[in-house]
Amino acid sequence: MAPEPLTDTGPPEGFDPRGRDRDDLYGALARLRDLGEVVYSRQLQAWCVTGHEDIAAILRNDADFSARDHKPRPTLDLPPDVAEILRTWSGDSASLGEMDPPEHTRVRSVINAGFTPWALQPAEADIRATAVQLLQPLTEVAEFDLVADFALPYALTVILRFLGIPEEHHQDCLRWSDHKVQLMVGRDHTPQQLRECATGLRDFGAFARELTARRLAEPREDLISTMLHESPHGHRLTPEEVAALIPTLIITGHTTLAQGLAITVRHQLRSPGGWTAVVDGRVSIPHLVEEGLRLDCPVVGMYRTTVREVTVAGQVLPAGSKVLLLYGAANHDPGRYPEPDHCRPERWPTAAHLAFGRGTHYCAGAGLARAELRIALEELAARFPGLSAASEAGPVYRPTFPLRALTALRVRP
Ligand code: HEM
Repeated sequence: MAPEPLTDTGPPEGFDPRGRDRDDLYGALARLRDLGEVVYSRQLQAWCVTGHEDIAAILRNDADFSARDHKPRPTLDLPPDVAEILRTWSGDSASLGEMDPPEHTRVRSVINAGFTPWALQPAEADIRATAVQLLQPLTEVAEFDLVADFALPYALTVILRFLGIPEEHHQDCLRWSDHKVQLMVGRDHTPQQLRECATGLRDFGAFARELTARRLAEPREDLISTMLHESPHGHRLTPEEVAALIPTLIITGHTTLAQGLAITVRHQLRSPGGWTAVVDGRVSIPHLVEEGLRLDCPVVGMYRTTVREVTVAGQVLPAGSKVLLLYGAANHDPGRYPEPDHCRPERWPTAAHLAFGRGTHYCAGAGLARAELRIALEELAARFPGLSAASEAGPVYRPTFPLRALTALRVRP
């Protein structure tokens, strides 16, 4: 492990994305960028990289930057029994996000077989039906929470149906997913609360293994069956590997999506005439999807570890250094995006962002996510032409850095 630098090169008051800087994260990222392209944060125990070009170059360089151990830092000090469950709940397979090539290449090629345009296209009608079913009852109410009443159940239902998870288990999957997020980022939990989350995770793992066994015996038209039975380029996954992937796909597949949708709607509601422009078609919804993700990306950053000594933007980083790639900062890089803090859907389709990462670990579900966001915005615009914010209050985020999670978005139909 690389020795920690003695001093914090971040802002004098520290970079505190889980606390003070949570609700104005982009102000804090701009201050961080002003200090340099690579600054050390003692609080996050990592070198923070803010520039678009530097991050894109790191993501192209698997030889020098490993994805192993990309847990948010500092890691939680967990009771031993909880730590043991966390180590074993999903079996022995490493998590996809922490694999390096060639192991990663094998697993990703099988997952990719489930996300081809041929797999996604037929799913679109089902995604739209899910949106309509959830939105219809909301046309009858005076006010609702776009996060809890639509974005979260929509995102969760879509990924669960895509995987082929029976409806009666959907609420369990929501609860277990939240347990996983809390165990990853929760700072103020009692040992008892941590144990409850860990027990939930153990149940999640057992459920995934049991469902995998069923799909192995009786394949269906769903992602779990594809991952079990497809062998692109001769690559295959074991049932244990597929079972370990199920919770990952559920968690990454819905928390990010719900956030991307909520934040995009929020931006349009706050800008004068913004929602009307969506409703009457003056704003292209696919372009708005990209700009919404660029403006406030659901995954603000990801960790990598240097394999050997490397130099990034003039800063020498010893082997074993933790590097936090701040996708959120890169997406506001003023050298690349004029007026980076403004919503400008007309930047697209010529711009490109890092909201889905890039390179080896580029988001496996990006195509599905884009379809979900587009369909949700189309159906919202069709049913709620007069949608407005029910409160002037600023946004409040959960302390889940580097994942972004808006707590609520009260709206009037
Ligand atoms: C707006 C929604 C989404 C955003 C912003 C997003 C963002 C990201 C980002 C930034 C990464 C790369 C992490 C890294 O660099 O290490 C990633 C990876 C991943 N995402 Fe997404 N994601 C979204 C939706 C989804 C959906 C719907 C799925 C479907 C299951 C999904 C599945 C995955 C998986 C499996 C990975 C790991 C890929 C790998 O390590 O090879 N994501 N996502």
